[in-house]
Amino acid sequence: MQVPLLDLKLQFKTLKAEVMKAIEELCDTQLFILGKKVEDFETSIAQYCQCKYAIGVTSGSDALLASMMTEGIGIGDEVITTPFSFFATAGAIARIGAKPVFVDINEADFNINADLIESKITNKTRAIIPVHLFGQMAEMDKIIDISRKHNLIVIEDGAQAIGSEYLKCKAGSFGDYGCFSFFPSKNLGGFGDGGIITTNCKDKSDLLKSFRNHGADSNNKYIYNHIGGNFRLDAIQAAVLQVKLKYLDSWHLARQKNADEYRTLFARSSISGKIILPEIAGNATKHIYNQFCIRVKNGKRDLLKAGLNKVGIGSDIYYPVPLHLQKCFAYLGYRKSDFPVSETIAAEILALPVYPETTFEQRQYVVSKTEEILSE
Ligand SMILES: Cc1ncc(COP(=O)(O)O)c(C=O)c1O
Repeated sequence: MQVPLLDLKLQFKTLKAEVMKAIEELCDTQLFILGKKVEDFETSIAQYCQCKYAIGVTSGSDALLASMMTEGIGIGDEVITTPFSFFATAGAIARIGAKPVFVDINEADFNINADLIESKITNKTRAIIPVHLFGQMAEMDKIIDISRKHNLIVIEDGAQAIGSEYLKCKAGSFGDYGCFSFFPSKNLGGFGDGGIITTNCKDKSDLLKSFRNHGADSNNKYIYNHIGGNFRLDAIQAAVLQVKLKYLDSWHLARQKNADEYRTLFARSSISGKIILPEIAGNATKHIYNQFCIRVKNGKRDLLKAGLNKVGIGSDIYYPVPLHLQKCFAYLGYRKSDFPVSETIAAEILALPVYPETTFEQRQYVVSKTEEILSE
């Protein structure tokens, strides 16, 4: 049996007619830059994320970049974030000339440990970027309290977590900005790169619209009040994503059901003590399982990954090297053991297939092969 980590062809089959029709309609207009398709999609996402505004951009990475540019964050500023994330989180901070300041994560949810944030705040700190990793939100109540006390901007990196909830409120609705990615493997994935920023502030929304369009004045297109960039979401991506958005909640539900089935099957297996399953931690009320990541104890993670690969099961390591130990961030002066929880999780974590179209039989196969390999 084959169980790839992700197979987007299965989803496409069910949507092909609808998506191709939307693309064709757009092609008939030949209006590929911003316009109605993008505006309609922005309105839908704002509603979906319980926010007043949404601004479509080129990618999740550029969503982070544009949010910080809009705030004038740059050289001499510090931005607090997690060392256990995809590169883009810290990459965007460094790219605008600010200094990433890392704070270790919680074992339970792999997200930034909010109780450790305050000790890292200095008079140079401008913002906090919590990441809602794998589809589960960080401790936003505590993070918002800290940001108010110290007058800091909060930029939620919700790239992996659109539709996820904390205290029953949606990702992107807590911070000053919510940044999302439509990279194809996300729960809401485009046909290429794409991203969006949510906010509840009209001024921020207006500024973002200017920054994504080189900093141009909204009424005078060759007058530039800011130095922005070309961060515009393609209309063709908006057309595809608008179709897909209708199905997003049903895909979330399927992923949750798949995760629950894994829990039941692993609990019945003989290896339940050798792995740790992902938890729904603290005040998180909805995990969307962009990834279902287990922890493999006793140094056997790599052995399991290789063994699963041999029997046709896809898995991957998100993320093998925490950001504070990446060569490109050596100038920050961090060392091994600075963030022990991140380092432990990086050595143990393994993502298993959880996408909506996987079957119960495939999950049984994954669990029985995992059991076999870890019992050797
Ligand atoms: C946590 C996180 N932040 C940022 C990004 C960047 O998004 P993109 O690939 O759309 O630039 C990603 C995704 O790939 C991500 O997973």
